[in-house]
Amino acid sequence: MKFFIDTANLDEIREAHELGVLDGVTTNPSLMAKVGIKGKNNIFKHYKSICDIVDGDVSAEVISTDFKGIIREGEELAEIDEKIVVKVPMIRDGVKAIKYFADKEIKTNCTLVFSAGQALLAAKAGATYVSPFVGRLDDISMDGIDLIESIVSIYENYGFLTQVLAASIRHPVHILKCAEIGADVATCPLSVITSLLNHPLTDSGLKKFLADAATFTE
Ligand code: E4P
Repeated sequence: MKFFIDTANLDEIREAHELGVLDGVTTNPSLMAKVGIKGKNNIFKHYKSICDIVDGDVSAEVISTDFKGIIREGEELAEIDEKIVVKVPMIRDGVKAIKYFADKEIKTNCTLVFSAGQALLAAKAGATYVSPFVGRLDDISMDGIDLIESIVSIYENYGFLTQVLAASIRHPVHILKCAEIGADVATCPLSVITSLLNHPLTDSGLKKFLADAATFTE
């Protein structure tokens, strides 16, 4: 299972990269706004800085919603670095654009996916990744993990190459459930990735080992 970090914050991306478990980065307009980057040139420079830190794919989202605009923006984003994956919303013109990009061998991430039907369309259009939003479904009392299970099973039935990128991950159990089901990627905030480290028995066990070691190393 690949781990992507879901942020545009360079310090957090560096920290996850230094941990040695980072396979890529996802961003979205809200995450870009959060780091306060303004203006096309600065935004493009920021994507380049992210690409320079990580070894894997970096999703950069278009903000156009019409076919021509998505194509223009996506082609510009793809020029920034070969790691860039053009993130396209699950809308009619988005699906058309994903097919266009697939034919040009430009990688895509179909975002804002909330149903298996949407995921099937994204795969048929040739998306590199599909991003079902687990946490946002949970937020409205639907089961986001059920959606991941359904998409993984549909893709397996037909051998689709589109990778299931579980997004909107809120806690470590989401990651573990996605791993059990066989999601290809989980994109998570840094705090959720590092929360996998924690276990009280690890802490108390280490404390005891260090206390005992102190008796023979003095
Ligand atoms: C990433 O690709 C998504 O945009 C992101 O995971 C959404 O997360 P949120 O629901 O916590 O905003």
